[in-house]
Amino acid sequence: KRLVFIGPPGSGKGTQSPVIKDEFCLCHLSTGDMLRAAVAAKSPLGVKAKEAMDKGELVSDDLVVGIMDEAMNRPKCQKGFILDGFPRTVTQAEKLDEMLNRRGAQIDKVLNFAIDDSVLEERITGRWIHPSSGRSYHTKFAPPKVPGVDDVTGEPLIQRKDDNADVLRSRLDAFHKQTQPVIDYYAKKGNLVNIPAEKAPEEVTKVVKKAVST
Ligand code: AP5
Ligand code: ZN
Repeated sequence: KRLVFIGPPGSGKGTQSPVIKDEFCLCHLSTGDMLRAAVAAKSPLGVKAKEAMDKGELVSDDLVVGIMDEAMNRPKCQKGFILDGFPRTVTQAEKLDEMLNRRGAQIDKVLNFAIDDSVLEERITGRWIHPSSGRSYHTKFAPPKVPGVDDVTGEPLIQRKDDNADVLRSRLDAFHKQTQPVIDYYAKKGNLVNIPAEKAPEEVTKVVKKAVST
């Protein structure tokens, strides 16, 4: 299966991806995770991406298209993948079609994590992540066993630099202006499925599994 998870910041893309990936033997490709790793490593890519990310604006299409094109070649992605946070502009969606055409493939389904903006601030400001694994927690909705510590490794959790109310406003603005047209693009193609993302995480998982397997 080749899937796209699309939705605003805090809609649950990164929470559902690991569960669905394991269930369907896919790889999880998150442009946000890859960019944050590049920023942490201070690689040339990270240096170019940091300013836009800190402001909650989108990184240039060329940069993210380049990292995705490369990531798709990973051996573990050959059976299928979940694209989390990509494509986010119509240009990226068109480039993705080209990349897949070259590989004789296509997107099976686009899952649209539909949710009202008003609940996202609480989700975003309460999130804590384990950067090296990408695992995320929430102080209220998904607390770690020991506060501030990753359940699996015992390593410390951190907050993302862009997870504050102020930067969230720019991220939401970018979503509505630049990413909503991508949702419309897939709706026209006929492979869009709406996921009610306000439900509890386990409920969302059920709906997603059903959408992926039918
Ligand atoms: P990215 O990392 O993709 O961030 P985002 O799109 O803003 O999405 P989030 O990671 O905030 O949301 P999520 O849906 O994954 O939420 P999660 O499941 O963790 O991108 C970051 C930046 O990188 C961008 O701003 C941009 O600069 C750049 N970038 C990335 N991709 C790009 C691209 N393609 N083009 C250009 N630039 C790009 O959940 C959030 C919290 O809520 C967690 O704490 C979780 O525990 C909790 N939670 C999850 N589900 C539920 C639920 N059902 N009920 C209650 N709580 C829940
Ligand atoms: Zn995410």
